[in-house]
Amino acid sequence: MSPDYRVIIGDSRRMTEVTDESVHLIVTSPPYPMVSIWDDLFAEASAPSYNEMHEYLNETWREIRRVLIHGGIACINIGDATRTSNGIFHLYPNHSRIIENFEKLGFVTLPYVLWKKPTNRPHYKGKGAFLGSGFLPPNAYVTLDMEYILIFRKGPPRSFPPKDPRRYDSKFTKTERDEWFSQVWRVPGARQDIDGLERRVAAFPEEIPRRLIRMFSILGDVILDPFLGSGTTLKAAMELDRKFVGYEKFPQLAEFIKSKVGSSHRQVEFLEQRSAIKELAR
Ligand SMILES: C[S@@+](CC[C@H](N)C(=O)[O-])C[C@H]1O[C@@H](n2cnc3c(N)ncnc32)[C@H](O)[C@@H]1O
Repeated sequence: MSPDYRVIIGDSRRMTEVTDESVHLIVTSPPYPMVSIWDDLFAEASAPSYNEMHEYLNETWREIRRVLIHGGIACINIGDATRTSNGIFHLYPNHSRIIENFEKLGFVTLPYVLWKKPTNRPHYKGKGAFLGSGFLPPNAYVTLDMEYILIFRKGPPRSFPPKDPRRYDSKFTKTERDEWFSQVWRVPGARQDIDGLERRVAAFPEEIPRRLIRMFSILGDVILDPFLGSGTTLKAAMELDRKFVGYEKFPQLAEFIKSKVGSSHRQVEFLEQRSAIKELAR
């Protein structure tokens, strides 16, 4: 029998450890294409262009389609990016590329959430901030201070037996529903840990996976995060009585994931992906 909580140190582009149609909900935040902190990671896949970065993510999206049950939901937190290339500052709209790619895989696109983070400074001519002439039109740019939580479903909605007790025990309150199902969420960013690892993995605050898990799964469901980072989704899933499987490519993060979930880490099975599979994923 497989344990209720599993973390696989390995590559989610081949989730061989997860059987077909065994996951109810995906909550994740991938590395963002064209955001400089992630360049090395994509370059390792010899995929430095915008298209190739999305091709890298597509491999995991294909696996998501395989492992989700029919009616299962995928919530993808992503931000757009800006970059100056060949002297021209412009937008890389990651969210719209991911919607197109999920549509190509046959997913149903559902209305998404805009997560407003109280961060980031305005830009001027592609520089990090307004310079002295920042009040003069027309060469300033709108600041990217929103991220997206894209929501996709594999086929038609899930069905449940009438009065299913697990479903009824999972219900949310009217206040929760009114806040969570509105399109703009104002949630502060993650608190930073002492050595800055949460910043380096761009951790999302616990409130994000907590809401999504309560909105789109029921007690006892299996949640998957294929880009686990510091383990925020694992922590939320454990606290909300869901089962969990996650993938994280960098072994250095295993200790950090353990410390995030505290003494509950003893219930989590940590596995090394088989090296033959890691080789395949290169
Ligand atoms: C944006 S971070 C996730 C942050 C996470 N939501 C948190 O709260 O800590 C993306 C993570 O995906 C990992 N990653 C990138 N490519 C991967 C892959 N192919 N398989 C598994 N993990 C991967 C990176 O190492 C990084 O830790």
